[in-house]
Amino acid sequence: MKITQDPPYIAAMPKVTTFAEAVEILERNQDFHEGLMEEESFPFRGETVIELDEEANYERRKVHAPLFSRRALEWYERELFDPAFDQSLDERIRERDVDGVVRANLMELSERIFLRVISRLIGLDDVDVAERVSLLQRYHVPLNDAVNVKWSTRDHEDVIREGHEAKAGFIRDFYAPSARRRERLVEEFRAGRCARSDLPTDLLTLTLLSAKPEEDHDRFAREAILYLAAGVGTSSTAITFAVEELDRWVVDHPEDVPRLTDPEFLRLASNEVLRLRPTFPALVRRAVRDTEIAATGRRVRAGERIAIDNTLINRDPEAFGSNADRFDPYRSLPAGVKPYGLAFGAGPKVCIGRPLVTAISDRSAGSEIERSMAHVLKALYAAGVGVDHDRPRVLAPTAEDRYEVFPVRFAGL
Ligand code: HEM
Repeated sequence: MKITQDPPYIAAMPKVTTFAEAVEILERNQDFHEGLMEEESFPFRGETVIELDEEANYERRKVHAPLFSRRALEWYERELFDPAFDQSLDERIRERDVDGVVRANLMELSERIFLRVISRLIGLDDVDVAERVSLLQRYHVPLNDAVNVKWSTRDHEDVIREGHEAKAGFIRDFYAPSARRRERLVEEFRAGRCARSDLPTDLLTLTLLSAKPEEDHDRFAREAILYLAAGVGTSSTAITFAVEELDRWVVDHPEDVPRLTDPEFLRLASNEVLRLRPTFPALVRRAVRDTEIAATGRRVRAGERIAIDNTLINRDPEAFGSNADRFDPYRSLPAGVKPYGLAFGAGPKVCIGRPLVTAISDRSAGSEIERSMAHVLKALYAAGVGVDHDRPRVLAPTAEDRYEVFPVRFAGL
């Protein structure tokens, strides 16, 4: 856990620190909004789904919902994850060190795996060969920083300037050619020359199909940027945290070493990591009218903002037991509490990508879908991944909790 004091963005806001109050605000109280909290990130996420509330948010989420249908999830898992993993790991194997060991920065490796998958979900073409993935990664890093600029500990003007440069390159090299192809397909469909089922189910196509003629095309590019940031950085960070927590866990629980390639154990471990190690310091909400929170009697005036402390709510002993601040994949939970806590938020603004990341239980996992976290972790452990304790881990320059460098080595390659 990184935070020692409140980041400036939330320093002056009242804090929500209990699970019960957070659930009430996120799930049940209609008086809070999430969108339009700050303007500096507008060029990167303005008017995208994450900036919308109420009816507009609901309608936009409906457009995006096919990306997370059971059929789509099965396709990502069956067709995309294994090749994305193999290609990304092969790149590292080709760079084997002189001592014969395959090493990697796990943050970078995970980003390359998720960039290959999430770009297909977005509808960005030709993110396959190493050079194209490297180019997208060069744009993704500053774009992710710009989308999340409110948490950055760097000079925000620099973050925004670098974000603009990356956005121009991203639009030229990825977004524009992919969008042009899909515009032609949508035209064919509207002219009756092809069927709806001939069109791809990706974010760009769904966006173009639902767009009004007068709509701003820069918003479509921003939606793609948001999905890159929301899907790649978060998932890659969670992978590094899982490897870090499991590295410590097996020291005291050597009997679990064989379970490091067991999807059921990895699902439990993933959910526990997501709960214990949230990336964002807080979920911020603004009251749109005077309101009272029933769980605590707290009153919030219209216009006032509150910060829901992601670390504290997810370590509340009332919900997660007296050892809530420890990693324990076998934790038992009260009914109604999800194993990953509020790591994905809750209520109408809950993370739309959650079904791609992890499953709540055996039953919701189904027999064939492992979801991305358990799937990628299983492949990493099958290749013998382990923390490289000889090399330093480096945190990113932000109040978010995430690594820039997380060194690992592969014993099985
Ligand atoms: C470890 C992985 C992930 C974590 C921890 C995570 C967490 C979150 C959180 C906390 C929110 C905001 C909820 C709120 O403010 O109430 C969110 C929203 C969102 N996430 Fe995720 N997310 C993850 C992966 C993904 C993936 C893989 C995608 C897409 C492929 C995605 C897409 C989104 C979108 C579009 C939103 C905005 C939804 C809305 O405002 O209606 N996320 N996520």
